[in-house]
Amino acid sequence: MPLPEIRLDVRRRDFLRWLAASPLLASAGGLAGLEPVIAQEAPQRTLDDLVETAQEALDVFDLQRVAAEQVPTAHWGYIMTGVDGEETQANNRAGLERMYLRARRMIDVSSLDTTVALFDREWPTPLMIAPCGYQRAFHPDGELATARAAAARTHLQTLSTVTSTAVEEVNDARGEPVWYQLYARPNWEGTVALVRRSVDAGCPVLVLTVDLNGGSNRLTLERYRRVDDRDCASCHRSGGRADPVRPMLRGLPRGVSDGSSGASMTWAYVDRLRSVTDQKIIVKGLVTAEDAELALRTGVDGIWVSNHGGRAEGDGRATIDALPEISRVVGGRVPVIVDGGFRRGTDLFKGIARGATAVAVGRPYLWGLGAFGQEGVERALQILTRELEITMRAVGTPSLADIGPHSVGVD
Ligand code: GLV
Repeated sequence: MPLPEIRLDVRRRDFLRWLAASPLLASAGGLAGLEPVIAQEAPQRTLDDLVETAQEALDVFDLQRVAAEQVPTAHWGYIMTGVDGEETQANNRAGLERMYLRARRMIDVSSLDTTVALFDREWPTPLMIAPCGYQRAFHPDGELATARAAAARTHLQTLSTVTSTAVEEVNDARGEPVWYQLYARPNWEGTVALVRRSVDAGCPVLVLTVDLNGGSNRLTLERYRRVDDRDCASCHRSGGRADPVRPMLRGLPRGVSDGSSGASMTWAYVDRLRSVTDQKIIVKGLVTAEDAELALRTGVDGIWVSNHGGRAEGDGRATIDALPEISRVVGGRVPVIVDGGFRRGTDLFKGIARGATAVAVGRPYLWGLGAFGQEGVERALQILTRELEITMRAVGTPSLADIGPHSVGVD
């Protein structure tokens, strides 16, 4: 099972330090034979050192390295986990890495237009904040830090049902209502109560997540949990894995499942939601053209292409590769959002090129949060925005509308 990349980095660094100091090296005639390797690695060893402030981070991986040191082990496992041997997570990255950019020259890129309209609101950037649960497990300020960062840099934020801070407080910190991500509750009454609460809080959009209804096999999370038995008051009331703090679920009607839980959900569920809310409804977790077609038939207001950051099905296809068939079906009728492995501005660009209206990130801002709280989230957003702008200039696409399938290729 590939461990999260930071652990491998640290191990390699330690190994090189050990090697450099090793008597074995001396008895084998000093650096003879190993010099080229050591010479290549030497600058890296110095540059590998952790950044001390958010502003020093040059890419989101600098934030990842710090967060890996700061966030409690089990919680780190929660951030980084995929399912099985992490194949879907790896596929998300591999799909993006296979693509190259087709740069055009001699185009005036002295001013850029990165604005994007989503329903009644215009945003200065297509980079949005994906819903991620339990953020107080990564920093004491949790979702409030994320909301303040989103407000400071004007990014659209979606809040998870399993938030560790209630939607009302998050909206206050954000300065305007966030989008609300919905997991179907075990009974319809519970779902309706949750939806009504998000309506009362002013959330204009409901993001119904449909890719996690049969459970998921999160082995990395389990492995990290096993070596961490600390009691974290910010996210568990009573240690370990039981009883996480989930303020949106407190006081919901319990009762037995009435057959409307996620596991029994069909497209009729969207119609049912329509009957209880006027919010825009986006369906999150689609990866096929067939489902996009069905979603449009039920009259959804938007489609979110996602495999839950590789945390839903094993052996899933890269979302960047699922995107074109879905964009084709949608044909611009509703916004299409994508997430799954987007780590650099070039990745955001590739998402737009393959038809996304906006691109959401999850782990990169959690790394910022775990590393430096609000400042770290802001830095992650700033880095990705700057990288996207550099990419747009480099490729000769002054506006998002200029980016299209012709802007990328795959060998
Ligand atoms: C929740 O959405 C999770 O992926 O853990």
